[in-house]
Parts: sequence; structure tokens; C-alpha cells
Amino acid sequence: MKKLELKTVVCSCSYDELSDEQKALVDRAKQATACSYSPYSHFAVGAAVLLDNGQVLTGANQENAAYPSGLCAERTVMFYANAQYPDTPVRALAVACFTGGHFTRRPGSPCGNCRQVLLETEHRFGRDMQILLYGEDEIYIFASARSLLPHCFVDDDLKG
Ligand code: THU
Repeated sequence: MKKLELKTVVCSCSYDELSDEQKALVDRAKQATACSYSPYSHFAVGAAVLLDNGQVLTGANQENAAYPSGLCAERTVMFYANAQYPDTPVRALAVACFTGGHFTRRPGSPCGNCRQVLLETEHRFGRDMQILLYGEDEIYIFASARSLLPHCFVDDDLKG
């Protein structure tokens, strides 16, 4: 039996180390937490997308009394971006989480379903999407959605 190793790279940095463009995107994600509808979890997530045309779109998690009907911030904004601008690649995504009166110390991390959706957008446009995960203590930067979801399932896998 052979063992195959899956490796991924994540950069950890402080807010001050970000470029102006990255700071602006993280700021928008933080602001977007205010638009979260999260009366059940009290965990507000904001996400901001930078399109290739320079536009920034934002979204926040939307919960529901029927819990599984809710949607994470990342998918809310990514589906919106793709629905409004179906021909425009996504250059970057920033995510921030707010609970108990403050932003989380550790960077939040997109759930498995969101990773799959981010991957589809990246794959669809053939362009890497930088992912910035905000935490008060440190910020994680992934160079692509694929690096968040190694050994992933994409359209080629449907061909068998
Ligand atoms: N949530 C997100 O919006 N994004 C994530 O990456 C993780 C979790 C939401 C779902 C739910 O509304 C709340 O956070 C608690 O899980």
C-alpha cells in the first residue's frame, strides 16, 4: 500500500501586513457581520468578495427556524456574485466572525459545503481566488479555494 500525502499552505499574518486592497476587503467582511441574521446561533459571519472588475460585494449568514434552511455568509455572497456577474471571475474572498460582542480571536474557517462552492467558482473561471480569514490575533491567507479543499471533487471527476 502506498501512502499519498495531501499538503496545503496557509500564511498567517497581522492586519498591518496586509496590502491596502486586502485591508479594505477584510474591513468590508467585518462590517458585513452587522447584516447577519443569526438569532439561533448568535454567531455572525460576514463575507466580502472582490470581483475581477474591482467591485466588492458582501453577504452575511442567514439563519432559519428550520435550521438547515439557513445559509452561510460565504455561500450567500458567492451565489449572489455569480448570479449578478456570471462572467466575472472572483479575485478574493474575506471572512470575519463576530460573537459575544467581539470578533473571534482565531480566524473562522469556511464549512465543507462552502469550500465546495468556493471551489466551483474558482474552477468555473479558471482563476485562483485568494481567501482571507480574519481573526483578531491573526489572519490566515490561502492562495486558492483548492488549497482549502485538497483532493476535491470537480467536473472532471464526473467523467469517470
Ligand atoms: N457560518 C457561516 O456563515 N460561515 C462559516 O464559515 C461557518 C458557519 C454560520 C452558519 C450559522 O449561521 C452560524 O455560522 C453558526 O454555525
